[in-house]
Amino acid sequence: MASIPLRLRDHSYDVLIGPGVRTSLAEVVGRLGARRAVVVSARPREWVPDTGVETLLLPARDGERDKTLTTVEALCGEFVRFGLTRSDLVVSCGGGTTTDVVGLAAALYHRGVTVVHLPTTLLAQVDASVGGKTAVNLPAGKNLVGAYWQPGAVLCDTDYLSTLPRREMLNGYGEIARAHFIGAPDLRSLPLADQIAASVRLKARIVEVDERDSGLRHILNYGHTLGHALERATGFALRHGEAVAIGTVFAGRLAGALGRIDRARVAEHQDVVRSYGLPAALPAETESATLIRLMRHDKKAIGGLAFVLDGPNGAELVDDVPHETVEHVLDGMPRMPLGELVDEAVPAATTDTARP
Ligand code: GLY
Repeated sequence: MASIPLRLRDHSYDVLIGPGVRTSLAEVVGRLGARRAVVVSARPREWVPDTGVETLLLPARDGERDKTLTTVEALCGEFVRFGLTRSDLVVSCGGGTTTDVVGLAAALYHRGVTVVHLPTTLLAQVDASVGGKTAVNLPAGKNLVGAYWQPGAVLCDTDYLSTLPRREMLNGYGEIARAHFIGAPDLRSLPLADQIAASVRLKARIVEVDERDSGLRHILNYGHTLGHALERATGFALRHGEAVAIGTVFAGRLAGALGRIDRARVAEHQDVVRSYGLPAALPAETESATLIRLMRHDKKAIGGLAFVLDGPNGAELVDDVPHETVEHVLDGMPRMPLGELVDEAVPAATTDTARP
């Protein structure tokens, strides 16, 4: 088991990673001093560990459709009926959409009650549940309402991953692949639990420096500018991790075109992404002009086109990348029909599309 501390000025916690770590929940709840708990779980009852205290178990559904203010309101209503106090605790058990919505309910209930996350997807374990971003969607877009609310602990039980479909694993591998280019060592030959631990360790160090995403934390969005555009352009037929993988290959090519990295480093982007079985080509159906239009609306772009790019000083946010260069690099990317990029259909309810 790995235990990774995340130390912030006024709030520190540990992320535990390994098989069976969910059974530490009762000990964690005891240490946090709660007398009652509400567990909100998208997993069957048999996967939910004992809290050691009086508990209300509420069912949840992973997926974007329940990541709403209505769900937050319904959860808070259940907390009231159960008599949850500010010194009690909420537990989320599910993918990143569940940890996001439960995290936001915990942030708002009584102006903040402790939350412990039990992420059950690879994406949620390596990214969404760590670092304190919580959010829900509005009809106008994803993650438009949220709060920073750091958990009291995160238990990444790798046993949960044994039941995931392949594409759900790819969803998480996309984030692990991008970690290679923002400061993680080469993780490819490591056991999965060690890859998760290394990704979490990297994220913890970044969040410790920039909790509120005002500078360094931007680098976690490596590959995401094109990734987000691809998700939207394909109507989310590409999963987040798959889109980030393609965005990572593109980010390498763009950094190469701008003279920031050499050819070997550009090629390394494709090698790393392909080694995880992730797609490295653009969907043939998607036009460069559409992607550029969508990328101009990226949250990190202040006016022009902005990307996190590798370079002599490592990854950093680069503003105002010339339109022509972006277009030229997009046009030079390999293309493949969408159906060949995504070879296996996954029911929406089982997918984890959280991207805090
Ligand atoms: N997923 C990016 C972040 O937590 O900042």
